[in-house]
Amino acid sequence: MIVNQAWSLEEGAARVSDLFTRTFGAEPEAVHSAPGRVNIIGEHTDYNGGYALPMALPHRTFAAVRRREDRLVRLISAQEEGVREVNLDEVDTHDSANPVPGWPAYVVGVAWALEQAGCCPFPGMDVAIDSCVPFGAGLSSSAALEGSVAVAWDAMCEIGGGRAATDAGRAQLVEACVRAENLIAGAPTGGMDQAASLRCREGHAIMLDCRDQSIEHVPFDLAKVDTQLLVVDTRAPHALVDGQYAARRAACESAARKLGVDLLVEVPQGADLSGLPEEERMRVEHVVGEIARTKDFVQWLREGQLDSTRLHALGDLMVASHRSLQELYEVTCPELDAVVDVALANGAYGARMTGGGFGGSAIALVPADKAEDVARAVAEGFAERGFNEPHFLYAEPSAPAK
Ligand code: GLA
Repeated sequence: MIVNQAWSLEEGAARVSDLFTRTFGAEPEAVHSAPGRVNIIGEHTDYNGGYALPMALPHRTFAAVRRREDRLVRLISAQEEGVREVNLDEVDTHDSANPVPGWPAYVVGVAWALEQAGCCPFPGMDVAIDSCVPFGAGLSSSAALEGSVAVAWDAMCEIGGGRAATDAGRAQLVEACVRAENLIAGAPTGGMDQAASLRCREGHAIMLDCRDQSIEHVPFDLAKVDTQLLVVDTRAPHALVDGQYAARRAACESAARKLGVDLLVEVPQGADLSGLPEEERMRVEHVVGEIARTKDFVQWLREGQLDSTRLHALGDLMVASHRSLQELYEVTCPELDAVVDVALANGAYGARMTGGGFGGSAIALVPADKAEDVARAVAEGFAERGFNEPHFLYAEPSAPAK
């Protein structure tokens, strides 16, 4: 069984510093890092103005940086050969004639968005990146990259910087990351991932109100109640992801227009949806139900010690969320459904897909003494079904970008 361990802060910093020095022939000026995330519940609600409940993973992306005299950004990643270069004066949107290709778009996109938000023109930067957030696993490796460079740019900014010092400032960094992702990298995502990476708190999940970006840190210390959040990276091949995500978002926007609201969060439970085309009705039903489930989940957490009754109630909400994503929102896949079925059959309180879907990862809430059995059963179930071998992570609510 492959368990994906997080690096310590020291180990991550040593790795990127070494890569930086070998590549650029000088010591980095600073090392920053930011976590990936799992969403506990509240899926496909963020771009509908609803609620989501993500938490940061202990797995982080590390960025070693050093400012330059010019406006050039030179980038190296431990995950590929060769140095890439982008001039900050030449950054343009993804739909322009000259978009920034590949992952550097996230790095320079954040500087571009921060300059638009009033930060002084940035100096160029040499940057080395390494990460233990699995890529393409639906655990927000892109938000972790954006978060790590957002705090790096912020620390370098003489006018308009220092935003990482307060939560209100971090909310502005989140906004810049989302603009970078939407406009420069061209992914129409909703903002939950960046909020988790930049605004989370150790031992807590974030109840995120995606309409006004307000947050509440909700205690989520599972170790205290001998419970674990097991993450299963299904390693399912996912095709068409971008197109499918954009299609779901477009269906929600179209339904909102027909229902006469700005965002689906304004649609009350039990509203008459009979005027909508069948597919849009299903999407809206998911979103409205998921927002209610997220509020209920947080209510259980707020009410006190997580005894067995509460853990079962949380598990039931997770399963209801998954079924809704499977049947109404249609974003699961056989691998994600199998994790839920096998985890439940082996003593999990609950389980569900996490993130955008169409592959990626699932989470299971399990009694700590059953976590290994559940993982083993999932691995065996995958082998029997001829799926790729899954990888596992243990998720504890971890620290934000720093
Ligand atoms: C992806 C996006 C998020 C969110 C989720 C679904 O992770 O990046 O903004 O929309 O999908 O909840």
